[in-house]
Amino acid sequence: MNIRSFENIDVRGKFVLLRDDFNVQIIDGKIKDSFRITQSMPTIRKLSESGAKVAIVAHFGRPNGVRDMGLSLAPIAEYMKIPFIPDCLDKDFMQDMKNGDVVLLENVRFYSGEEEDCPKFSAKLANGFDVFINDAFAVSHRAHASTVGVTKILPSYAGELLLSEIKQLTKIIENPKRPLLSIVAGGKVSTKIGVLKSLAKLSDKLIVDGAIGTTFAFANGANVGNSLYEPNMKDTALEIMEFAKQNDCELFIPIDKGVGKVFSKDADRVNKPLSEIQDDDIIMDSGIETTKRNIEIINSVKTVLWNGTFGMAEWNDKWGYASFEIARAIAKQTRAGELESIVGGGDTVALLEKIDIKDDITYISTGGGAFLEFIEGLSLPGIKALEIA
Ligand code: 3PG
Repeated sequence: MNIRSFENIDVRGKFVLLRDDFNVQIIDGKIKDSFRITQSMPTIRKLSESGAKVAIVAHFGRPNGVRDMGLSLAPIAEYMKIPFIPDCLDKDFMQDMKNGDVVLLENVRFYSGEEEDCPKFSAKLANGFDVFINDAFAVSHRAHASTVGVTKILPSYAGELLLSEIKQLTKIIENPKRPLLSIVAGGKVSTKIGVLKSLAKLSDKLIVDGAIGTTFAFANGANVGNSLYEPNMKDTALEIMEFAKQNDCELFIPIDKGVGKVFSKDADRVNKPLSEIQDDDIIMDSGIETTKRNIEIINSVKTVLWNGTFGMAEWNDKWGYASFEIARAIAKQTRAGELESIVGGGDTVALLEKIDIKDDITYISTGGGAFLEFIEGLSLPGIKALEIA
């Protein structure tokens, strides 16, 4: 993939429209996970130090074209200590900008033209700028005005973060150290069918867990009680198991689970083999034996690709047991130089941050959906728009 890089262009005195992804967790106006912001800083700094006048365009949440102040980017500007422009189509601020200045524009999704990739909206957004730089890997799977539309109007380039995501993830897909283990957990088989199949082709071993693993266990004949799973995905799960077998990929489903009688962080936790799960049991984490087995697998491979948490890790240690144990095992092997670890997805990255082991992971992607689509081998429109023909 040959992408136009921002590194060789002269931006001094130029108005640069920079696309970043600041879709981070904000609770009560406070940033809870700054990873995407931190990872965006090198490009912002480089542009500023090179004398560009930078306006960052970004989205937050899904306001569906409505000006919803609960989804304002103002807290991000405050956190970054940069001026905030309360309307992304406002141009008045440009006349006061000096070389090196950086501002943040209000949520671009307050306009319906953004998600519709409306050419008129793109023209308004691009108006007054000399150059467009996309550094928002995490939203590059969306064909929106601020990821694709503006590239048809302005000379457009990839920023440092976008280039680094492409390089690191391509390396893993094209030339992984083997054996390669992929771990896919989290919510729904239905949203991850494509990636499960691609990973079954790419990997030597594949662990499915979380609610996805529960659906696979159900498909395999287990009673999964009153848990979150997708009964209508039974045939798809069986098909993926067969697909893995045909592609010489060993697929591992859970063998036990942590269950409770109410869906609550305060529920009493009992560990049960799948065969003992009752109709009123609710699965809220993976089990102790499954976790032991998974750690043995981790210790036997050279590369791990991980997306999705195993249970309700956001609640507490009791229900985050499997996720935390797996994260620590991956970190330990990586620290020892035995493993290359690649992690992607908002919940999974937040988990690493919570137990402070981000530095022990080889590569953490800022992408959630974009990370999955990239490793699935799909062409991401925001990246495709920057390819040299
Ligand atoms: C993300 O958080 O994965 C990106 O910012 C994309 O957000 P979206 O799924 O709302 O388009």
